[in-house]
Amino acid sequence: MLDVTKIRKDFPILNKDDGLIYLDSAATSLKPKKVIDAVLAYYQDYTANIHRGDYRLSLMASELYDKARENVADFVNVSATEIIFTSGSTASLNQVAYQFGLDILQAGDVILTTETEHASSILPWYQVAKKINAKIEYVPLNNEGLITIENFTKAMHDQVKIVVTTHVSNVLGHVNPIKELARITHDHDGYIVVDGAQAIPHMLIDLKDLDVDFYAFSGHKMLAPTGVGVLYGKRCWLDKMLPLFYGGGSNARFDKQGNITLKNTPEKFEAGTPSIEGVLGLSAAIDYLRDIGMDNVLMHEEELSKYLLTKLHELNNVIIYNPSVKSGIIALNVKNIFSQDVAAYLDHHHIAVRSGNHCAKILNNVIQVTDTIRCSLYIYNTKEDIDEFIRVLKDVTLEKCIDLII
Ligand SMILES: Cc1ncc(COP(=O)(O)O)c(C=O)c1O
Repeated sequence: MLDVTKIRKDFPILNKDDGLIYLDSAATSLKPKKVIDAVLAYYQDYTANIHRGDYRLSLMASELYDKARENVADFVNVSATEIIFTSGSTASLNQVAYQFGLDILQAGDVILTTETEHASSILPWYQVAKKINAKIEYVPLNNEGLITIENFTKAMHDQVKIVVTTHVSNVLGHVNPIKELARITHDHDGYIVVDGAQAIPHMLIDLKDLDVDFYAFSGHKMLAPTGVGVLYGKRCWLDKMLPLFYGGGSNARFDKQGNITLKNTPEKFEAGTPSIEGVLGLSAAIDYLRDIGMDNVLMHEEELSKYLLTKLHELNNVIIYNPSVKSGIIALNVKNIFSQDVAAYLDHHHIAVRSGNHCAKILNNVIQVTDTIRCSLYIYNTKEDIDEFIRVLKDVTLEKCIDLII
């Protein structure tokens, strides 16, 4: 069980007097003091570049940075040599598409994906497919927008070289059966690339057990700072892959004829000065989540999600698009009011939600609507947050929204 009262005290933004109700953690999470302190400590106590200095501060920053990599690796049960720090899921996913996809795909090969993908997951593959004349195919989803093993098995065939899928949909919150999808993909000699941006913050992920080829996630959705993310890749693929960026820190030597000797994985992928404070903040966020326990995080969110759905069902002015969801992402609309107008009305009552298409622009083929309000829950949310959200939602009318605008 989570002690949410205690948790809320750790988040400075929740301890102001403005009564913020934050229901947009899928966009970015709030940050606990432990993470803010880790970032501050780097700037106040040991600012130095990493792996480039032979003085005390640089050695200290380097050691903490290396330990952070081990901490991340341990959190997802892989080796530290398989963890590449990037600027976020978008950078991680682009890197796989361009540096792995372009290399192994040939004209006529198929990239199998879904219509629930976030732009950062699918757009790089559209580009890659165009460049080499590969085909994009979609797994038919069931009527709730879920990939089923049955549909996936039917969609799979021997021309499929790469499967690109989200672990948890950022619009509908459904959790895809990644372990089974990986097994089926590998049975067909394919590779599976998973966008874990909405999964890692909310549940214990064991990448060795899932047996995926690549997995991407962002720090800022899991209590860490913005500007840092992770690309996990199986060591055998990373060793073969060339980096997207070249520069300082990633090469052992080069000469004026342009011969470059790259460092080993993962250093060869991290050219230039990284987000040192971001990586240290990510490690602090992982410590914080580990202390709470990922099972408790998941249980809390599932309980709140159930509560929210029950309350929403009692309202007759609301349409819910994922009524069977178990995770903390709920997509809805107020009947006959544009989602952005409702979001502005909620904001007027200090309630932050996301509205729009949530960067999943082809999902409208599945849920028959382009824009929704997305409510996303995390460890610091309470039943009281939900009660207030429901109270305001019940009360919203088109006239009230218009009054706010004019
Ligand atoms: C499912 C999913 N994938 C990828 C991303 C992109 O993450 P970032 O903007 O941190 O690169 C997001 C962000 O909202 C997301 O929800």
